[in-house]
Amino acid sequence: MNIAVDRKVPKPLHRQIYDGYRTAIVDGSLRPGQRIPSTRMLASEIGVSRLPVLNAYAQLLAEGYFESRVGAGTVVSGSLPDQFTSSAPTGARLAATPSGSRPIARRSSILPRFERAPWLQGWGAFSVGQVAFDQFPLQVWSNLVARRCRNMDAKSFHYGDQMGFKPLREVIASYLRTARSLHCDAEQVMIVNGSQQALEISARVLLDPSSPVWVEEPGYRLAQDAFALNGCHLVPVPVDKEGLDVAAGIKRCRKARAALVTPSHQFPLGVTMSASRRFQLLDWAQNTGSWIIEDDYDSEYRYESLPIASLQGLGANARVIYVGTFSKVLFPSLRLGYVVIPSDLVDRFLAIRRAMDLGPPSSYQEVLADFISEGHFARHIRRMRALYRERRRTLVASISNELGSMVEVLGSEAGMHLAVTLPNRSRDLKIAERAARQNLWLWPLSPSYLGEVSRPGFILGFGSTAVEEIPRAVRKLRNLLAAGDL
Ligand SMILES: Cc1ncc(COP(=O)(O)O)c(C=O)c1O
Repeated sequence: MNIAVDRKVPKPLHRQIYDGYRTAIVDGSLRPGQRIPSTRMLASEIGVSRLPVLNAYAQLLAEGYFESRVGAGTVVSGSLPDQFTSSAPTGARLAATPSGSRPIARRSSILPRFERAPWLQGWGAFSVGQVAFDQFPLQVWSNLVARRCRNMDAKSFHYGDQMGFKPLREVIASYLRTARSLHCDAEQVMIVNGSQQALEISARVLLDPSSPVWVEEPGYRLAQDAFALNGCHLVPVPVDKEGLDVAAGIKRCRKARAALVTPSHQFPLGVTMSASRRFQLLDWAQNTGSWIIEDDYDSEYRYESLPIASLQGLGANARVIYVGTFSKVLFPSLRLGYVVIPSDLVDRFLAIRRAMDLGPPSSYQEVLADFISEGHFARHIRRMRALYRERRRTLVASISNELGSMVEVLGSEAGMHLAVTLPNRSRDLKIAERAARQNLWLWPLSPSYLGEVSRPGFILGFGSTAVEEIPRAVRKLRNLLAAGDL
């Protein structure tokens, strides 16, 4: 059996020796009990110093591929299970072909296989969820990152607070009390890895498998997936011009254990939930002992009026779990969000969270705390509000000029996207696929429905689309819609 090394490859010599023996044992070229040359002998045979050979042997002994036998030196271990030492060809064995019974959890098939839809694959006009990256105060941010890195101490290297960095929770609580009228203090704020994690933890704390949950129809599927994955039974409740139709929800399933809502700017239709619906929803929750999960993902940007106060702030019975994110207001790769938890549930949320990931990574939390407390956050929101207002105004005007009565525009008073609806039975999926081939990223409305699609159409993001680009993109959309063959 020859062990060869090649000094030209970047792999260290001890690793080449280790791999050579391991492969030979796994593919059966070396059999249990077979003698291995001494380290001195192998080193001289292959022309290397003894050190890499000693290291490789030590590793193979530690991992149980070799064993030392008194009087016999080093031999291939006699206790390796047969399946590790078959005579199958090397390539086939190393490729780890699946075989035998391989049961996986039923719940892993609750969600369909993930395939990135064509309209999620590009940059530019009308991508949903993309912010004006080129307007982000990168210099300020990188200075804050550098300052935090320079000043790291022993504590910064250790596990952080599992609720999140305390100074960040404090500035968030203060911001939410002022800007969103929440009733909260920092002890109730948990920093999470984006609002998606907040929803996942909420589902695990509040709901059991098969608990019925009201979800908006149409709604934000990714949020709904977090509940479906925990075995919840999703009950689609229609959304009309006033938001979630609470009476319809009560008719369908009065005893639902929770309602998942986006009251400030319904996703995807963009409706703001009316005051009377808000009170109906809070009453329902109180009467049935249910929870409300309020996903307030983009409420910072409102154009026609002041931001709408949160549901959490309206409710007097601590039945609302409030979820927020920095994905829209800053940028999504930050993966930072927060959940405001009723005080009596904080320890339950914390127990689940600890078991999930022990807490959020500290560095960007610290940077973000500085960014907010030093005034950059408020300045950024003001600048972005003006910028998005302009982009949205241009988009609405272009749609009216180019598309006229071909579509209805919904939900343009807030956020970074609006919805356009098409006549019933239009094939929005097909149109979106064709549009993606022309670098136009339309997010079709039909996948946002759990049941029958009552209003096909598109969600048009304008966060990352420059004003000059918008009329051209809308003309492209008009040509696609006018093609008439879809
Ligand atoms: C309704 C809704 N909630 C939340 C989010 C953001 O999720 P995350 O904070 O996990 O990035 C989005 C992003 O598109 C959204 O549309």
